[in-house]
Amino acid sequence: MTEETATLRVGDKEYSLPIVVGTEDEVGIDITALRQQSGCITLDPAFGNTGSCKSAITFIDGEKGILRYRGIPIQQLAEKSRFIEVAYLLIWGELPTQAQMSRFSEMLTDEALLHESLKHHFEGFPNTSPPMAMLSAMINAISCYHPDVLPCETDAQFEEAVAHIVSKVRTVAAFSYKMSRGEPFIYPDPRRKYVNNLLYMMFTVPHHAYDASPEIERAMNLILLLHADHEQNCSTSTVRMVGSSQANLFASIASGVCALWGPLHGGANQAVIEMLEEIRRGKMDIATCIKLAKDKESGFRLMGFGHRVYRNFDPRAKILRKACDDVLTYLKRSDPLLDIARSLEDAALKDSYFVDRKLYPNVDFYSGIIMRAIGIPVNMFPVMFAIGRLPGWIAHWREQRCTPGARIARPRQIYTGPCQRDFVPMDER
Ligand code: SDX
Repeated sequence: MTEETATLRVGDKEYSLPIVVGTEDEVGIDITALRQQSGCITLDPAFGNTGSCKSAITFIDGEKGILRYRGIPIQQLAEKSRFIEVAYLLIWGELPTQAQMSRFSEMLTDEALLHESLKHHFEGFPNTSPPMAMLSAMINAISCYHPDVLPCETDAQFEEAVAHIVSKVRTVAAFSYKMSRGEPFIYPDPRRKYVNNLLYMMFTVPHHAYDASPEIERAMNLILLLHADHEQNCSTSTVRMVGSSQANLFASIASGVCALWGPLHGGANQAVIEMLEEIRRGKMDIATCIKLAKDKESGFRLMGFGHRVYRNFDPRAKILRKACDDVLTYLKRSDPLLDIARSLEDAALKDSYFVDRKLYPNVDFYSGIIMRAIGIPVNMFPVMFAIGRLPGWIAHWREQRCTPGARIARPRQIYTGPCQRDFVPMDER
């Protein structure tokens, strides 16, 4: 990265700040020494203009709709790879050799089971519990049974922890789904690959084993790999923040699950389907939807639309838009929600409110339609997003932890409360 400088003038003083340029020519003004030099801090409440770190994991160009994992375009990975291979790429930085892939796959198989005592934790949840609440709680519960992998000091310990989390989170997701349906837990089948095993554990019942077809397995692999990382989004930044206190990987990932749960983030895929259902049930029509989305007072947002970084089509939405057709054609099924989604997209992209603000469909606009077609219930959509995002969270946690001189994240603030005043005794208030 080249070293140039930016000049900041505050009052009659000037300060010289280093400029950092990334490998894709992104330019950052390094303000690490700003307060020490000038006594000033910067203010950027939602961090829309603030870089929290340098990272070599994922590159996004929001203007051009570019997304690359470790330099490989998402379109190539979507076409040629599968989720666990992409997970390896994100976590360890390179596509695995056959030997590395086999080893990772074996480790995931070996770590798929939960400690038998963990089953009782599910009994403590009402069967109406939100799956994301169970997921975040169970991730920390899992770590209580595997204290040996918590330190993550050595590469071997980190590899073990990765296998535990990536494999066991899938089992927790399936078990939480079974619990919500009052069905018996289906244990992981060691002969099945990662995604096939997830769907097997979810949809098998004692009297009927579920075996995903190659087409459905491919669709689910696509959903998960498209969600695998997205640089410094809300949940990933949370994982890095929590990890910066040297909290263990399980605690950091559990915090990422909680951040992802919000409807403005990973909960949007669920909110999109609920919005489309409202239109299908005639509770509102497309014109009303667009009108409400444009009305600031309404508090309504077009879910699955807009993005902090993309000012163009989210490349993942483009891939999923086509995958919807592929899955529904394979299943010989149509979905009225897809037709509504398409009409909504057409209406929005003809409306200056969305065009002027560069609001396009994001990853959540179409993903739910595919998951619905596979048979995944809406309340499990954010859990599928979390399973997909695990490799990204893990990669960023490790990158932060291995950064030389890494410090605990601790933002500053501008205080706007009362100036000093004295305590007032109760009888004088
Ligand atoms: C994900 O960060 C990531 O990378 C996230 C993610 C990932 O992979 O991790 O890509 C996954 O979270 C995708 C986003 C899922 N959320 C939704 O689909 C919820 C609906 N979208 C919006 O809430 C919104 O677009 C966000 C949250 C996605 C982005 O929020 P920003 O960047 O804070 O956008 P903004 O509020 O600054 O909006 C700019 C303008 C505003 O209008 P003006 O003040 O300029 O008049 O656009 C408007 C907003 O009101 N706007 C919308 C809108 N999104 C933005 N208006 C109506 N409907 C919307 N969806």
